[in-house]
Amino acid sequence: MKKALKYVLGALIVTAIVIQFINRPERVNEPVTDNDIIQVLEIDGPMANMLKSACYDCHSDQPRYPWYASIAPVSWRIAEHIEHGRDELNFSKWGTYSARRRDHKLEEMIEEVEEGHMPLPNYVRMHGEAKLSDEQIESLKAWVNTERENIASESTEANN
Ligand code: HEC
Repeated sequence: MKKALKYVLGALIVTAIVIQFINRPERVNEPVTDNDIIQVLEIDGPMANMLKSACYDCHSDQPRYPWYASIAPVSWRIAEHIEHGRDELNFSKWGTYSARRRDHKLEEMIEEVEEGHMPLPNYVRMHGEAKLSDEQIESLKAWVNTERENIASESTEANN
């Protein structure tokens, strides 16, 4: 019995080591450009910091990688989140989005945050600073509403 346990443990350790070499996800790290939402919308300090600390690790071209992002299988999960997150919404590419897409993403931001889906709960567990207070959510909502109004009035102007 004891011997079997040793074999199982040994096999687990070997597996844990082997998987470190089979798939090392590439890291995302692109330079900040003028298309970043913070530049495009001239977002003020507190709101910019909030987006950076709560959203940019999965929704920008400059995610910060914690030390455990080097260790499989966690590294695979993190790479997946960053890939899917950026596919859906990339704040670094905001300047390239159409008015319609911007408006839709802004709307989704509030929905996702209010429902507690964003930032991803697993992420918040590891990143206390990403947990949004009710106050922060309120200021995010106010900011989103203003931006959506701006988009609406810009598009009426364009149609006139
Ligand atoms: C740990 C990674 C991670 C963090 C942090 C994170 N997201 Fe996401 N987000 C994702 C992933 C992955 C998806 C796509 C899959 C899904 O919807 O679950 C997504 C999807 C979204 C979508 C849906 C886009 C669409 O058009 O359907 C919105 C909006 C969003 N996130 C907003 C935010 C906001 C706002 C924050 C910060 C307050 C944030 N996210 C933080 C990973 C993250």
